[in-house]
Amino acid sequence: MTAIADKTIWLTGASSGIGLALAKQLAKHGAKLILSSRNQQALEQLRDSLPNAAQHQVLALDLSQPEQAVETAAAALQGVDIDILINNAGISQRSLALDTAMPVYRQLMEVDYFAVVALTQWLLPQMVERQQGHIVTVSSVAGKVGTKMRSGYSGAKFAVLGYMDCIRAEMQQHGIVCTSILPGFVHTQIAHNALTGDGSARGKADQDNASGISAEQCAKEIVTAIQKNKAEVVVAKGLSKLAPTLQRWFPGLIRRLTANR
Ligand SMILES: NC(=O)c1ccc[n+]([C@@H]2O[C@H](COP(=O)([O-])OP(=O)(O)OC[C@H]3O[C@@H](n4cnc5c(N)ncnc54)[C@H](OP(=O)(O)O)[C@@H]3O)[C@@H](O)[C@H]2O)c1
Repeated sequence: MTAIADKTIWLTGASSGIGLALAKQLAKHGAKLILSSRNQQALEQLRDSLPNAAQHQVLALDLSQPEQAVETAAAALQGVDIDILINNAGISQRSLALDTAMPVYRQLMEVDYFAVVALTQWLLPQMVERQQGHIVTVSSVAGKVGTKMRSGYSGAKFAVLGYMDCIRAEMQQHGIVCTSILPGFVHTQIAHNALTGDGSARGKADQDNASGISAEQCAKEIVTAIQKNKAEVVVAKGLSKLAPTLQRWFPGLIRRLTANR
């Protein structure tokens, strides 16, 4: 079991949805948080609302520019030992491949894949030196099962799972745990913020997410996965909970379901 109390945890995507719920729960468990997203004001409000506000830090970053984000973080976090990195920030997509411009694919890869790699690569040497640490990355059920309207998002979420599998194998000897989280539908702003084919935000909710599990339930299951040092956990209900297993054992069924949906 990994204890959360007194751990220094760097959480990206803390301003909204799953990250916001995670910040509240981790703070209750006694963690010292470094809260990241682009929205400094929202992060400051969140920090001030948390128990032991003075021990948490705000670090505003734009993860669509991963190398620059790492430079900013390196300057701000000098001398801070990070125990757990939670790569939670992400952006989704709602557009058919036929309608999706190339820069949209790049934007999704920057935020959902390269930013995860950049932050993790920056921290791993420090964790290896200390022979301890925990990398948590929020991928998606869409990282196992491709469906319509998600060709860029799924590509990035599949990629990040591959990266996590590889570093898990490499880091075990150094005492570093790697946890991949695969949420199904969660009721957050994700659909509202999702990119459409021309790169503009969708600007409205969608029924699948609205009827998904709550951000609080998702965060609770992520905290448990961290405490139990899990390698990979699906956090979902209904068909999206079953989808990765169905994909593995009944791929033909999944192909029919996704094509006809
Ligand atoms: N909700 C779901 O159904 C669902 C399902 C599967 C996986 N997930 C994954 O769960 C994670 C959290 O999503 P959510 O549902 O909580 O969505 P959300 O409510 O839209 O929150 C997304 C978070 O990511 C941050 N973010 C987005 N672009 C960023 C950028 N360029 N730089 C820095 N931060 C950025 C946002 O902060 P700012 O806007 O303040 O920068 C926000 O805090 C994502 O990785 C998502 O792919 C969600």
